[in-house]
Amino acid sequence: SDPDPLQDVCVADYNSSVTVNGYACKSNYTYAPEDFASMAIAEPGEPNIFGTKVGVANVNNMPGLNTLGMSWARVDFERDGLNPPHSHPRATEIIFVLKGQLIAGFITTDNVFVDKLIRKGEVFVFPRALIHFQFNVGKGNASILVAFDSQNPGVQPVVSMFIAIPKIPDVVVAKTYQTNVTVVQEIRRRLGVPA
Ligand code: GLV
Ligand code: MN
Repeated sequence: SDPDPLQDVCVADYNSSVTVNGYACKSNYTYAPEDFASMAIAEPGEPNIFGTKVGVANVNNMPGLNTLGMSWARVDFERDGLNPPHSHPRATEIIFVLKGQLIAGFITTDNVFVDKLIRKGEVFVFPRALIHFQFNVGKGNASILVAFDSQNPGVQPVVSMFIAIPKIPDVVVAKTYQTNVTVVQEIRRRLGVPA
């Protein structure tokens, strides 16, 4: 859902000091074939505390994607691994199950929860900006390929409420979830937020 390109290619110039909506383009014909290729998701990404590894190939590590309105990711799940609830403010996401069985779910702005058991070979779509997750419910590992209709989908995890820096006041988070400050601090600690 990114804007349409106004030229054939606009390979991101990461060194430019020009700030635009996206990246400034490298000068014509100074780009290389490698700018349009990436091995960024050839292997799983870095492990997180939720039992998943997320890797991305987007405009921030693949310059040829600039202005083209699409990108990839992959998620590799351990047993019981969760890609925790999050939203992409700029993209619809479509996934393809490479391996395993997962619950895929999203929540509409009417608070309707839409979820389905998906398995190897299945495709599932998460409408733009809606909170969603995937949870490995199979007996082994699982892997998905992820496509976005944005060069830079952005990720807003639901746990942002707890992990944002500077910290959202404990009392605000406590009131939001109708709990107390002690619980909020305990959740922050478990999420690895420095005290
Ligand atoms: C999956 O939901 C992802 O955003 O990588
Ligand atoms: Mn997602």
